[in-house]
Amino acid sequence: MSEIKENYSLLKHNTFKVAARARFYLELNDIPAILEFLSSDLSNLRPRLVLGGGSNVLFTGDFDGIVIHPAIKGIEKISEEGNTILVKVGAGEDWDGFVGYCTEQGWGGVENLSFIPGTVGACPVQNIGAYGMEAADSIDSVQAIHLETGRMITLKSNECQFSYRNSIFKQELKDKTVITHVYFRLQKNHQYKTTYPDLQRALDNYPETTIRTIREAIISIRKNKLPDPSVKGNAGSFFKNPVIDRDKAISLYKFYPQIKGFRNADGSLKVSAAWLIEQSGWKGKRMGETGTHPKQPLIIVNHGGATGGEILQCALKIQKAVMNHFAIKLEMEVNIL
Ligand code: EPU
Repeated sequence: MSEIKENYSLLKHNTFKVAARARFYLELNDIPAILEFLSSDLSNLRPRLVLGGGSNVLFTGDFDGIVIHPAIKGIEKISEEGNTILVKVGAGEDWDGFVGYCTEQGWGGVENLSFIPGTVGACPVQNIGAYGMEAADSIDSVQAIHLETGRMITLKSNECQFSYRNSIFKQELKDKTVITHVYFRLQKNHQYKTTYPDLQRALDNYPETTIRTIREAIISIRKNKLPDPSVKGNAGSFFKNPVIDRDKAISLYKFYPQIKGFRNADGSLKVSAAWLIEQSGWKGKRMGETGTHPKQPLIIVNHGGATGGEILQCALKIQKAVMNHFAIKLEMEVNIL
């Protein structure tokens, strides 16, 4: 177990770049370190937060408890059968580093998720997704330690309750486990997913479609459209795209035939939150040191020095504006602490 740090700055541990502090901070580099932590007095400290790359959290104040950072490393090929590769990845590996490694090996299944900030251990929690692909599509199982019992548990993909930006780790297991490893099932001869319009357009610039060119195309889209958190603090999409039922969708179409969204088989509509925010007058709008990104208003940015409280106030204003305009409640995707 590494040394516990007190009154520790979380500035470098949250991509919003909010200057919050943790009363205690502990990095755990392997499974024995986690078990040692659980059998020590430190395990009684509350509140407790498991923090990965900090790319989906907003600290609205100091954290008066213990922050645990799992830093388990390693990418290990477990088996190869026909086309399928099973890989075990440590929770502390950088997500995009892992995607880059898979691309070099020619293993398909995560390339559309290129350039997403964060760690491998955090990817199942919110079931990260982009350009028509979700982590759930290639996760075989998730290995974790239950914080109350100290037992090792393995959940197969179908036990993780994956859905759009959601999983069991955000629901009944919230704050109850530390994810140690994620197993992925990847394909050598892999069916590309290139139907997402932005991706199709970007791929026109390449002579052929391969795992490598998909990764390159997505990196270029993301670099062009999304703010770089190392330059301007942000946590990606702040809200989820809301799903409205068929009747509401029909009545909204009458007023807004240009509405942007994806229709589901049952007639419900997943509306583009970016479009709703833009129509509500919040695209590229600034509120002191915070505001929305000019190219993608679903992203709230820290222009520099904003507090978590200010960022939250901005989010609440956006939520209210969309509610007033469309009577649609935007659900926050970022974990507010
Ligand atoms: N749009 C606007 N105005 C804008 C920007 C976009 O009307 O200023 C419309 C566009 O017309 C487009 C639609 O919104 O048709 C969707 O935009 P985009 O392709 O950027 O995707 P998104 O639905 O806004 C989601 C994810 C992103 C992911 C992209 C690409 C959520 C909450 N967000 O955004 O994920 O990268 O799709 O697949 O589902 C994240 O979760 O942090 C994240 C960045």
